[in-house]
Amino acid sequence: MANKVVIGAQWGDEGKAKITDLLAQDADLIIRYQGGCNAGHTVVAHGKTFKFHLIPSGILYKGKTCLIGNGTVVLPEYFEQEIEGLKKENIDLSGLKVSPLATITMPWHTEVDGYSEDNAKKGKIGTTKKGIGPTYTDKMARIALKIEDLYSKEALEEKLDVILPLKNKQLKEVYGLKTYSKEEVLALCEKYAKIFEPYVCFEWQEMLHKFKKEGKKILFEGAQGVMLDVDYGTYPFVTSSNPVGGGACTGSGYGPKMIDEIIGVAKAYVTRVGEGPFVTELTDNIGDTIREVGHEFGVTTGRPRRCGWFDAVTMRYACLVGGLTSVALTKIDVFDSFDEIKVCTAYKDKRNGKIYNSYPTDVYIHKYLEPIYETHKGWGVNISGIRKYEELPLNARKYLERLEELLDTPISIVSVGPDREQTIFKS
Ligand code: GDP
Ligand code: IMO
Ligand code: MG
Repeated sequence: MANKVVIGAQWGDEGKAKITDLLAQDADLIIRYQGGCNAGHTVVAHGKTFKFHLIPSGILYKGKTCLIGNGTVVLPEYFEQEIEGLKKENIDLSGLKVSPLATITMPWHTEVDGYSEDNAKKGKIGTTKKGIGPTYTDKMARIALKIEDLYSKEALEEKLDVILPLKNKQLKEVYGLKTYSKEEVLALCEKYAKIFEPYVCFEWQEMLHKFKKEGKKILFEGAQGVMLDVDYGTYPFVTSSNPVGGGACTGSGYGPKMIDEIIGVAKAYVTRVGEGPFVTELTDNIGDTIREVGHEFGVTTGRPRRCGWFDAVTMRYACLVGGLTSVALTKIDVFDSFDEIKVCTAYKDKRNGKIYNSYPTDVYIHKYLEPIYETHKGWGVNISGIRKYEELPLNARKYLERLEELLDTPISIVSVGPDREQTIFKS
């Protein structure tokens, strides 16, 4: 197996975990490299459903190394909860490692995230309130704590002497929130040190070198999706990290030459949770049907996902900036009972009739855009038991081949159900 990166090619929840779990069978090392517990990743194996937030979706296989990389932000209590949940399921965690360079989400980060969301009069993002934005903000401002700091009293105290006066001023004066004493934070950090201790991998450099030297297979698991990328997504309605393929390098410790393939996971339609533009959104009963048939409710927050037709304009852009070498198309089975399936091939500006064949990055004009659709005939049969591409109904194959043409990117995997087994490898 080549070294592969699995990323979301839309607005998250595309089925990345299903594809990661599937490909993890042949990998030696699986790395989650960005995001945090804003992610909700579902794996269905042997009829059982597992939900992951931070822990790589390869953990279900014994004997694999699963690394939570330096590019992630980690909420200790949430990590602990996830670990406890997996222990109850008797999942072997001996291969789980956490980078000492991962950034810690402190209580003030979740509090500020919650406050900002609850009090936003304008420009609400609809975040998961897991402190993601405030943690990455502090990382970039160089006032965040790394997991390694928990094990050096000197570093911790020195850092807190810089962080706390700034943080407390901000918490009190900007947000009217509770402040933190150094003693209180030191006690918290002691607790966090214990949580991470069995997993923190101080010898991560040696480990990465060894995997590289021995030609071991590496699978990088992305979170969120290209359209939520802080650089390329529908800014400011995005997350605060880089879900594009390039994020795999900055977030893992491996350089670009270690990557052979970038697989962008996309649904046969589009969903989005939270605020922000969504040109093909369906607010009618077709959208409701997609939500019901596709069970489109958030794994992390339980929020109903906004649903719409496949948007080839945005997705073509995602193929480009995400660096995709191929697409894994999921949830095509959701259309089994649809007479007609639409695909957006261009946008039209309602104000002046201007046609956009390429994705306009100025999201403030998106509210004036209407989708131009082409219509495909449905296939009217249950395809969830099909395992060979040639056995798919002709209309399903025509639909997939048209998507490849529109995206100018091959589809390598077609997913016809949530289970590991319900997958077709194409070509
Ligand atoms: P992720 O965040 O990208 O890993 O995706 P989520 O786990 O948030 O959401 C994807 C949902 O779709 C999960 O409930 C999966 O079990 C389910 N799923 C994945 N692939 C398929 C598929 O091909 N068909 C159907 N019906 N469900 C799928
Ligand atoms: P997975 O990995 C879908 C969305 C939130 C919000 C925006 C910013 O399961 O695909 P944040 O809490 O990150 O600051 O929120 O990003 N969002 C996701 N949407 N799937 C996800 O993860 C998401 N992670 C964040 O809904 O709109
Ligand atoms: Mg998800």
